Amino acid sequence: MQESGDQREADDFELRPGEMVHLSHEPGSDAAALRFRDVLGRFATGLTVVSATGEDGPVGMTVQGFLSLSLEPPLVLVSMARTSRAWPVIERAGTFCVTILAADQQWLAELMATRGADKFRDLAWTPSPATGSPLLPGGLGHVDCRVEAVHDGGDHLLVVGRVLDLSATGDGEALLYHRGRYGATVTRPGDGPRTG
Ligand SMILES: Cc1cc2nc3c(=O)[nH]c(=O)nc-3n(C[C@H](O)[C@H](O)[C@H](O)COP(=O)(O)O)c2cc1C
Repeated sequence: MQESGDQREADDFELRPGEMVHLSHEPGSDAAALRFRDVLGRFATGLTVVSATGEDGPVGMTVQGFLSLSLEPPLVLVSMARTSRAWPVIERAGTFCVTILAADQQWLAELMATRGADKFRDLAWTPSPATGSPLLPGGLGHVDCRVEAVHDGGDHLLVVGRVLDLSATGDGEALLYHRGRYGATVTRPGDGPRTG
């Protein structure tokens, strides 16, 4: 942090790996940010990659802030940092695809969270039938969407996607994220997935 008299310069804070948010120069904002990350990080989620196709090729980012929002109409919600490079591409395309990550895809979550990486260079992706967004192999499912609405979410945007197509592509355990660490679901012996 830089200090100038008692006025600290605004600075960036890494909320999740690769996800920079701008901190105000309010006194205590860095301590508040650390506390926010510590407390909210105790909420475990699955992980996804949100991808789209732009003029300069595909873009993708790891996203924890994803949820199923509505069945009728079918909607999902994605929380995207305003500073993400993927967002302007998704906005222009008006479409995106969500890949639900499997337990053995930590490497993909790390790759898709690395700013400046050539994320798709060694990936065998195919365009989705509904929107042409990159379908990433090896995940548990795909949700192919059109951008339905975008709402203010502070330093993030709440992107509502209308589901145009979806597919289950794997039945294995899911990748999890909790307190800054990766994990995986554990299916108890005798517990089967709910299928009907
Ligand atoms: C486990 C994990 C979860 C993340 N969740 C989100 C998220 O929900 N929203 C977000 O905007 N960035 C999230 N990120 C950060 C982005 O994946 C990262 O900043 C990415 O590089 C942004 O894409 P860009 O290269 O297009 O800017 C997460 C990163 C990790 C490692």
